[in-house]
Amino acid sequence: MAEKIEVMLTEDEVNDRIKAIGEQISCDYAGRQVHLVCVLKGGSFFMCELAKRITVPVSLDFMSVSSYGGSTKSSGIVKIVKDLDEPLKDKDVIVVEDIVDSGRTLSYLLELLGQREPKSMRLCTLLDKPERRVVDVKVDYTGFEIPDKFVVGYGLDYDQRYRNLPYIGVVTFDEE
Ligand code: IMP
Ligand code: MG
Repeated sequence: MAEKIEVMLTEDEVNDRIKAIGEQISCDYAGRQVHLVCVLKGGSFFMCELAKRITVPVSLDFMSVSSYGGSTKSSGIVKIVKDLDEPLKDKDVIVVEDIVDSGRTLSYLLELLGQREPKSMRLCTLLDKPERRVVDVKVDYTGFEIPDKFVVGYGLDYDQRYRNLPYIGVVTFDEE
């Protein structure tokens, strides 16, 4: 099956929204420093663009997790493939994700990171598919709520491809 990509959110739409979230975070964290935690690999493009739009002092860290139970359905049991380099204790943390789908990965991750005693912890996601939610997760900053479609670009992949697209696209499959 060959796949096609249809644009759902243009590069300008995504960039404008990230700019607005950056301004909101700069306002909410005035006088403080934010510690952005990127969940690799999907969150990386979003975090870099977001960090450029934040005007309060920013520090960055990265972690990589894998979900047990296949590639299309997350089980919610998360294995840390690469842990953070720095402790979270007493930091104002914002976890930056590409997408919240069932919410399983995030709810597990937030609980795990919460045990490291950050001063505060919020969640920022570029995309949210609320229809798909199985586990309740409080999202503090959302780029876009999208329908239940499989999307790629801006860090999101289909079989490790398309992360580099500068826009968000929907994957459709041609029957051959
Ligand atoms: P959750 O535990 O179901 O919320 O899983 C979220 C993870 O599934 C994301 O971090 C993505 O890696 C992946 N994912 C969910 N929906 C999509 C999609 O539409 N495109 C690409 N990856 C997705
Ligand atoms: Mg992800």
